[in-house]
Amino acid sequence: MTKLKNAELVEVARKASDRAYAPYSNFRVGAAIALDDGTVVTGCNVENASYGLTICAERAAVFAAVAAGIKVIPRIAVAVVSPTDEKQSLMPCGACLQVLSEFMPADGTILVAGRGEFRLIELLPHSFGFTSEANRP
Ligand code: THU
Repeated sequence: MTKLKNAELVEVARKASDRAYAPYSNFRVGAAIALDDGTVVTGCNVENASYGLTICAERAAVFAAVAAGIKVIPRIAVAVVSPTDEKQSLMPCGACLQVLSEFMPADGTILVAGRGEFRLIELLPHSFGFTSEANRP
């Protein structure tokens, strides 16, 4: 497999948003994680009638990646399609950045459709994490 270009990965995230289950907010979100060997894992938001049980696209993608045996995430693309304005682009939420910080290095790449390229440390400079390495896996 060949490594996808950033623009290609954003397109994969956009396609993944087609599979969103978002009957309550109508915000369709797609995420695509890419490894340097060409592996790609996608996710979409999945809402629930009990609203708080909704899972964001980014976390769905991270959990799918971990379930596939991936523990280091160097790059993720996110695409949000707003129901009111298709051109509006939104940033990943803080909860997803915190979950990403578990598996993404500080200089990992977050591509946001319509906005550009960010480093994790820019968007979440002070993530929660154990200060003692002793407790880490
Ligand atoms: N959502 C995501 O999928 N990712 C984010 O980073 C923020 C929000 C979803 C959750 C919900 O289904 C919809 O967008 C509106 O909040």
